[in-house]
Amino acid sequence: MRASVPVLLLVILICRESYEAKAVSKVGKVAMLPPRGWNSYDSFSWVIDENAFLYNAEILSKRLLPYGYEYAVVDYLWYRKNVNGSSANAYGYDTIDPWGRVYPDPDRWPSSKDGNGFKEVAQIVHKMGLKFGIHVMTGISVQAVNANTPILDVDNGGAYRKDGQTWRARDIGLKNMTCKWMDKGFMSVDTSLAAGRAFLRSLYRQYAQWGVDFVKLDCVFGSDLDAKQILTVSELLQELDRPVVLSLSPGERVTPSMTDGISNHVNMYRITSDDWDKWEDVVAHFDVSRDFAAANKIGAEGLNGKSWPDLDMLPLGWLTDPSVQQGPHRKSNLTLDEQKTQMTLWSMAKSPLMFGGDLRHLDDSTFNLITNPTLLEIDHYSSNNKEFPYVFSTKIRKNRLRTLAQRFMSLDHENNGENNMLSTSNCKDEKANRWLVSSFNRDLDQICWQFDANSTDVKSYCLYKRKSLQTLAEGIKCKQETVETFQLLTSPAANTCLGISVNRKLSASEMRSVSLHPCKRNANARWGLIHNGTLVNLISRLCAIIVPKKANMDAGGIRSWIATGRRGEIYLAFFNLYNEKTKISTKVEDFAKILKGNFSSNCSYDGREIWTGKQFYMVNDTLSMMVEKHGSALFVLTCHK
Ligand SMILES: *[C@@H]1O[C@H](CO)[C@@H](O)[C@H](O)[C@H]1NC(C)=O
Ligand SMILES: *[C@@H]1O[C@H](CO)[C@@H](O)[C@H](O)[C@H]1NC(C)=O
Ligand SMILES: *[C@@H]1O[C@H](CO)[C@@H](O)[C@H](O)[C@H]1NC(C)=O
Ligand SMILES: *[C@@H]1O[C@H](CO)[C@@H](O)[C@H](O)[C@H]1NC(C)=O
Ligand SMILES: *[C@@H]1O[C@H](CO)[C@@H](O)[C@H](O)[C@H]1NC(C)=O
Ligand SMILES: *[C@@H]1O[C@H](CO)[C@@H](O)[C@H](O)[C@H]1NC(C)=O
Ligand SMILES: *[C@@H]1O[C@H](CO)[C@@H](O)[C@H](O)[C@H]1NC(C)=O
Ligand SMILES: *[C@@H]1O[C@H](CO)[C@@H](O)[C@H](O)[C@H]1NC(C)=O
Repeated sequence: MRASVPVLLLVILICRESYEAKAVSKVGKVAMLPPRGWNSYDSFSWVIDENAFLYNAEILSKRLLPYGYEYAVVDYLWYRKNVNGSSANAYGYDTIDPWGRVYPDPDRWPSSKDGNGFKEVAQIVHKMGLKFGIHVMTGISVQAVNANTPILDVDNGGAYRKDGQTWRARDIGLKNMTCKWMDKGFMSVDTSLAAGRAFLRSLYRQYAQWGVDFVKLDCVFGSDLDAKQILTVSELLQELDRPVVLSLSPGERVTPSMTDGISNHVNMYRITSDDWDKWEDVVAHFDVSRDFAAANKIGAEGLNGKSWPDLDMLPLGWLTDPSVQQGPHRKSNLTLDEQKTQMTLWSMAKSPLMFGGDLRHLDDSTFNLITNPTLLEIDHYSSNNKEFPYVFSTKIRKNRLRTLAQRFMSLDHENNGENNMLSTSNCKDEKANRWLVSSFNRDLDQICWQFDANSTDVKSYCLYKRKSLQTLAEGIKCKQETVETFQLLTSPAANTCLGISVNRKLSASEMRSVSLHPCKRNANARWGLIHNGTLVNLISRLCAIIVPKKANMDAGGIRSWIATGRRGEIYLAFFNLYNEKTKISTKVEDFAKILKGNFSSNCSYDGREIWTGKQFYMVNDTLSMMVEKHGSALFVLTCHK
């Protein structure tokens, strides 16, 4: 019995990665302002073809380029056959050259025939006055590893040889680091091997030859963090004679300190998982963008220029659905107020603005929103951008963020009426290490969350661990810690286990939720308890936390951001995250607390609110406005001496 039970072990690296010093650039500056453009993902998922792409690019150049939207970006799987059986995590449908490199599927991208790759598409896009971008996945394709293709040596045009050996895909592919949401598709490569770096060089040299100006690199950041690959790609881009913008995606559960040593090697990096047209996804961006602003990450040093925390594409206008094999077919689900809130937050946080809707069906309301002159001015040229905590609402809070709360699993039972929810957090988060194990009966252990870190009452909230016969291996200092993994039940008699859905891209709000699955042997539902009291999920590498429902529901409320303009103006945004119209107010005297020397106490500040066009005057130095449910107000305040 014992020998027949497969053991799933979770191996955790304890040592920190050390980052190498940055090389000096040879090419021109890029991304000195947050980049803007159009990306195919929100409207085409992965099924876009050459015609549809160039049609969108043409409209981009005519209508949006005058507003700074200059990058036309093909999102993922441009090398995958769009046929029956194929899908976003299917195996065996990718077009791969003899050197193990993907190239555009000639059925969808006819100009890529005869080894042309994206050359012709890039040329046409450049003639339109635009820049050309592509999405790429981590490392090497699983197909190339299985075919064990040789590696191209770009210096001699033949197979890469070193130490008397011809190196092949299997020598460099890291099977322990497959992309979490596309495990049949791609895996990291070992960049500590010269052959691994040679393979990546063969990719990026080819992208440069095609005329690529922008690379969106996926599955190396967030929960798929591969800092070595990011730094290697960044170095390879500096070997090129053309500047290429480096964008990382997605970035679920990142914190500002996690991006130290990475942000300065790239130009933009996502700070959330995918953003779709759901109100909860918009809400999920407030805390994290506040934290990156407070850490001075906006417009910090980057690769050949600056770097920008990226709040993701704008899913507005005519869209498709996440994870489908279908082009645009529906309108954005966000209300106009929610869309304005999204554009206002993205601009106040100086995010890159990548429009996601199908430009062939660009309606006037969407066009006006994404080209709003005040928002575009703020996004590019404002300074001192940060959350402004000195706002108050006079409304009694009745309908708190029910919809957000409902995304969390409710764990109500027999807990002194206390209403708690299971959610996930980054394992580095101090609040995640509250789990203790205690014996319950012969077959089950309890794993209990301590609401009060100092309390000895470990039974605050308990999950039940299915005992197994494996022993816990001792951690070896500064090497690896091997931890037994197990399944978790919400009650001793439950036949469903806690798990986290992976293998597809989760949206920003979905990232926070845990679900119940039948207790099979799937790895998504396996957890490990680490010595420091964190409870980590084997696949997602996220840690479980218990959130009191009240605290969670209070997470919404009202928010505000402030920034200063090029001509001394003050930009102030109010956001109403409640489900009802709310009066939001602030005192002008509080501006000085945030803006310090950029605020003149000798002024009387008057202004205009941009959505209503109304002129505003302070009454007793208080600025107030009724803001619609999920809506925003944006004031441009100027000083009158
Ligand atoms: C793909 O599947 C659909 C539905 O099953 C079928 O109608 C269609 O003929 C198939 N196409 C090909 C090329 O096999
Ligand atoms: C995967 O394996 C490589 C080499 O064997 C090792 O350097 C790396 O740390 C491993 N990664 C993980 C996440 O275990
Ligand atoms: C958008 O709304 C429709 C119904 O109104 C729903 O079927 C669909 O799932 C929603 N899409 C997203 C991405 O939320
Ligand atoms: C707990 O330990 C793991 C493994 O060493 C580590 O990755 C994580 O950051 C730690 N978390 C906390 C909150 O100490
Ligand atoms: C726990 O105890 C320490 C030391 O007595 C104290 O500083 C800390 O504030 C306490 N924490 C809580 C959450 O009560
Ligand atoms: C005013 O803002 C600028 C950035 O725009 C900042 O560098 C400067 O330190 C601020 N001045 C004061 C006195 O806070
Ligand atoms: C503000 O006014 C006071 C007195 O009215 C004056 O001394 C001070 O220089 C003024 N400051 C600015 C920044 O104009
Ligand atoms: C402004 O302040 C004055 C004097 O303190 C007070 O009488 C008045 O009601 C205030 N106005 C408003 C609109 O709050």
